Amino acid sequence: MSFVIKKNLLSEGKTKKIYTTNNSLEVLIHYKDSITALDGSKNQFLQDKGILNNEISTLIFKFINSCGIKTHFIRKINNREQLCYKVDIIPLEFVVRNIVAGSMSKRLNIQEGIRLLNPIFEIFYKNDKLKDPLINDHHAVFLGIISYEEINAIYRIVSNVNNILKKYFLDKNIILVDFKIEFGKNDQNDILLSDEISPDTCRFWDKKTMKKLDKDPFRIGLKEKEEVLDIYMEILKRLNVR
Ligand code: TMP
Ligand code: ASP
Repeated sequence: MSFVIKKNLLSEGKTKKIYTTNNSLEVLIHYKDSITALDGSKNQFLQDKGILNNEISTLIFKFINSCGIKTHFIRKINNREQLCYKVDIIPLEFVVRNIVAGSMSKRLNIQEGIRLLNPIFEIFYKNDKLKDPLINDHHAVFLGIISYEEINAIYRIVSNVNNILKKYFLDKNIILVDFKIEFGKNDQNDILLSDEISPDTCRFWDKKTMKKLDKDPFRIGLKEKEEVLDIYMEILKRLNVR
């Protein structure tokens, strides 16, 4: 295993910082102790949340890597940091829905909790000024973000990821209601699953009680941030049971 030297801050988002390293093909991703909701209008410090999300995302990416899907994840370095391949993030959020919830429930006035016979894929354009609008494949191609060939290749990966993660979580008595993933391109133009996968980016419901085991109770103001930490610890505990 080669020696990693953390160099310069490359970029900073709401919950993560990215640093260059001594290897130009690799970056360090640092998980911050912040919890945000509603496009950052709620953004609070939450002690140790970075540790939990770094560990949860590490376990999930390790599992996805082990299934042969190409991701940016290399290894966890310490409590708050992981080493990943450097990618240019494609500015699209790919959302998969197995059960109606969240914005789909609001937009179409459909009750939360209805199971979808076929998973629904949505794409959102990552653009703060426009507040990440819902778009479709044709908009994404028109905007010059991606080609039809690439988006179709990504949809195949998205479907694959949904199938393996649904089973992975169900084995831990967690229903994967919906989730958001992002992709990036490395220096060879390969498409890698990137960013993080955690209770910030997924809706998880307990299989028996249907209790929400994710960020939703904080988003809608039902729970204080400290209570959310207990929920994230519960997810980590279940992921650690084999
Ligand atoms: P939504 O119902 O609000 O559209 O969210 C769908 C899923 O995507 C949900 O699991 C939360 C996740 N998500 C993010 O990770 N980041 C975001 O900015 C949004 C809007 C949703
Ligand atoms: N709007 C997103 C969410 O609620 C992201 C954020 O603002 O942190 O998850």
